[in-house]
Order: sequence, then structure tokens, then C-alpha cells
Amino acid sequence: MIYNLLHNIKNQDITYIPENRVTGRLSGHSPCTNWANPKNWPHRHHPIKNANSVGPKPRPAVFLLTFGKQQPQKQSDMNRICKLFGIRYPIIQGGMVWCSGWRLAAAVSQAGGLGLLGAGSMHPETLVEHIRKMKVATNRPWGVNVPLMYPEIDRLMDILIREEVKIVFTSAGSPKKFTPMLHEAGVTVAHVVSSSKFARKCEEAGVDAIVAEGFEAGGHNGREETTTLTLIPQVRRATGLPVVAAGGIGSGEAMLAAMALGAEGVQIGTLFALSAESSASEAFKQRCLALDEGGTMLCLKKLSPTRLVRNGLFDKVAEAEARGANSEELRDILGKAASKRGIFEGDTEQGELEIGQIASSVDAIRPAGDIVRQLVEDFRKAQKDVAAIDF
Ligand SMILES: Cc1cc2nc3c(=O)[nH]c(=O)nc-3n(C[C@H](O)[C@H](O)[C@H](O)COP(=O)(O)O)c2cc1C
Repeated sequence: MIYNLLHNIKNQDITYIPENRVTGRLSGHSPCTNWANPKNWPHRHHPIKNANSVGPKPRPAVFLLTFGKQQPQKQSDMNRICKLFGIRYPIIQGGMVWCSGWRLAAAVSQAGGLGLLGAGSMHPETLVEHIRKMKVATNRPWGVNVPLMYPEIDRLMDILIREEVKIVFTSAGSPKKFTPMLHEAGVTVAHVVSSSKFARKCEEAGVDAIVAEGFEAGGHNGREETTTLTLIPQVRRATGLPVVAAGGIGSGEAMLAAMALGAEGVQIGTLFALSAESSASEAFKQRCLALDEGGTMLCLKKLSPTRLVRNGLFDKVAEAEARGANSEELRDILGKAASKRGIFEGDTEQGELEIGQIASSVDAIRPAGDIVRQLVEDFRKAQKDVAAIDF
């Protein structure tokens, strides 16, 4: 998926995430006193670039799946995504409008994954506030997701550099303009794509990792509707950079499958959007929990393809699209701040509810840390089960 804020921007859907809407609490976090010390950031000098110069070694998937082991490992054996971001598990919580404020991102980072603040729905000053809270909440690596269509993108980039953010995931646009500037400031950059063509462009732009996002994913999507199963091996072949798989990953088993296809990490949105620390409204979470297979569909291809829950607003959009409505008409139907209305304010009938296909397999709201732990446990079990398959 390439996240595209186009129609939200037209509707000024960029506003404030008040903290008191965020549930869940973090405890026992030491202040990030070492934040400014570059020694604490193993990826600061972009080690992966050096690793890439010899090119990825094609090996059977089981030998690549090395992360979070208790025993000291040889650097060369370590999972490249863990090494690049300095994290224990190659599990990334995708940046998500109206869901991923500091509480969610900090909970994921504390559990050993990589938490990302979702800048797409924050005013610049709100982003600063969340960044500063992150620095206090965790001393583990974390980052910020920036949809490049953001209206005040230059101002936002200045903030990221001034606040010494070390990891940035960009989406919805070309990484060409900002990657050199971010690298100059010591930032590690990953970019989200929905095709191997864009993956190649990312490599040319010099990004450090690629998130390849399939059609199952929540939020804004690729036009070609390429599924994760189809996309990952092709992106893997198209680039020597480490690939993170996204879209439809909701279990340790799915994580193993993605890694068998050549991904070295996973980016997960839906599971974390429906976690206790997500700043989405309770009404949104409950509506998504009740979804069955087929409860979401891709629509709005004339604006920016988006996977939405099939609610009252979706029906209006679908009806308009069936009679060939133009972009202007579709924008009118969405109205102002449609995703804020749906996800954050909980208007589950007339708001835009972005969530992935995998929501139909989620049956409870759980703390984000528990989600990370369960993913790792199930991944390891599935790894053994698959290794035992004989035919
Ligand atoms: C509610 C919601 C909001 C999202 N907002 C963004 C965003 O602001 N920027 C972005 O790059 N991706 C966004 N995404 C995509 C996620 O970061 C992630 O890549 C995707 O959800 C992965 O697929 P999954 O939903 O099947 O786990 C969003 C996804 C959801 C569900």
C-alpha cells in the first residue's frame, strides 16, 4: 500500500489527537536520558548499506529467521531488520492515522518491536508533543510514519530533524526528495510501496528498507490490488534491501509465511489499531471486532484507493461509484474529516472506517505488548511445526 492522504487533505482531516482519548497505561519506563547519545543508536551509520554492498545471500528461509535469541549472535547472522532498527523482534507497528499516538508506539517499542507515531493525523505541534512524550516513555528505538502528501511536509521534516527522531517511515509519495536530507541528519529511512516497480525506485532513492504492502491492508492501498502473497516475493527479487511485509498479517503463523516469502520483518496495522493503547474510539474498535470475512472492501479508486468497513458511508460511496460519480462528487459524499469522524470520534455508520481484512480474525482488544509477545510465541511454534512437515 501507498498511503495517500489526498482526499483527507482536501477535507482538512489533519488535526489533534487529545491524549485523554487514549486508553491503556505504560508503567515503569525510565526517562530516555540517553536519547541524544548516538552510541545508543546502532543503525545511526546505516550499517545495512554496507551489508548491502555484498548483496543478500539467498538461503533457505529457516536460516534467515534469526532474531531475539538469548545467546550472543554473530552480527552477520542477525536479522537485518532487527539490526537496522536496533530492535529485538522484527515486528513494526505501522503508523496509523487516529490510532498510533505515543501510548501505542511506546507500548510496542517497550515490548521489543518498533513503534511508529502516525504523523498523518497530527498538527505539527501535536507531533512535537507526541515525540517528546515518546522520549520519556521509552528508551528503546521508535520512529515516525510520515505520509509525504502531508500539507506542511517541509515543516514536518524540520521538526523530525530538530527533535532528533532517528527512524522515519515515509509513504504516499516519492522518497527521492527527503531521503538524502534525512540521511544527512543520521535518520534511518524506510518507505512503503505496493509494487516492485516502486520498490526499485526506493532503492534508487537510497532508502534503507522497504515496506511492501499488499491489498489486504487497512487504510490506503495500491491501485493494482496486489496481494501480500504475490507482492513479497516479487519485491524481494526486485531489490537487495531488507523487505518488511505488510497487509493481512495477524498471527505468528502469518509472520512466518511472510518471512518464508523473503520478508525480513512485518509491519502490522490492523491488530494494533484494535489494541488497548490505540487512540481509535471504542465504537470503532467494537465495530471492527464484529466484522466477518468480506466486511471490508476497497473503494475510492478515483481519489485514493482505500479499504473501508462496509457501513452506511461505504454504501453511499459504492452506489455513487457504480453510477460513475466523479472525484468531486465522491469528496462531497465523504464530507469533511471523514476518517476522524469514523475512527476517532466513533461515528461507525457515516464515518470512514479504515481497517484491514484481517480484522475479521480479531476477537478481543488486547494490550499491544501482549500482541507482540503472542506473535513471537506463535511464530516460534509455527517455525517448529513447519520444520517437522515431511513429504
Ligand atoms: C486505521 C489505519 C490507519 C492507517 N494510517 C496509515 C498512515 O497514516 N500512514 C501509512 O503509511 N499507513 C497507514 N496505514 C497502514 C498501516 O501502517 C499498515 O501498513 C497496514 O495497516 C498493514 O496492514 P494490516 O492492516 O493488514 O495489518 C493505516 C492502517 C490503518 C488500519
